[in-house]
Amino acid sequence: MSKIDEADFGNSELRIRPMNQSDCTSLSDLTAQLAEFEKMGHLNHMTPQRVFNDKYVRCPSLFEALIAEVKSSEDFDWVVVGSAIYIVGFSLRWGKYTYLEDLFVRSDYRNKGIGTKLFTSVIQKSRDEHGSRSMHWAVVNWNEKAKKFYRQFGGDECKGSIRFRFDENHKFLQTSN
Ligand SMILES: CC(C)(COP(=O)(O)OP(=O)(O)OC[C@H]1O[C@@H](n2cnc3c(N)ncnc32)[C@H](O)[C@@H]1OP(=O)(O)O)[C@@H](O)C(=O)NCCC(=O)NCCS
Repeated sequence: MSKIDEADFGNSELRIRPMNQSDCTSLSDLTAQLAEFEKMGHLNHMTPQRVFNDKYVRCPSLFEALIAEVKSSEDFDWVVVGSAIYIVGFSLRWGKYTYLEDLFVRSDYRNKGIGTKLFTSVIQKSRDEHGSRSMHWAVVNWNEKAKKFYRQFGGDECKGSIRFRFDENHKFLQTSN
């Protein structure tokens, strides 16, 4: 039995599904919560409209998102409680690979197996639908809970490299966008 089968949701149900256009606000909210959690709220400029534009306007296959929803037996509404955002990339070193950009579960729904279900769903889709040969992701140094979570799955920690980035205010990215 998987952890999700054992999870105690009271009288609720859980489902994992791909995002659709109506999820842009929820994804923007969850992204803001993750940015706050990672003490990077000041760098988060995501809005529902931006999620919509980035997902559906220019390049629909740019990123994929899985949504975790819980349905309460009280009002029968599905409530978004978590998400996983990933992209499929390519390098000559790795071939086709998946990069897990964000994994987030609302704080009041953690430790019930939802993160595990989202993470394993990304693995499954990467392997079976996209044909990825490896999966990569990053965790901020101090996030011991997430490191412990990921270690359970046996991922290799990448030593010897650091990440660089240009934020959106960087002069190289000042375009008409
Ligand atoms: C990391 C994160 C996604 C995990 O989500 P989650 O839903 O809590 O994950 P799970 O419930 O599957 O697993 C969490 C723990 O609960 C345990 N667990 C799973 N199902 C359980 C259940 N039914 N009852 C009790 N414990 C359970 C797991 O074994 C795991 O144990 P650990 O703390 O020893 O690793 C979540 O904590 C989160 O969103 N954190 C903030 C953002 C973050 O750190 N994101 C990842 C870095 S980008």
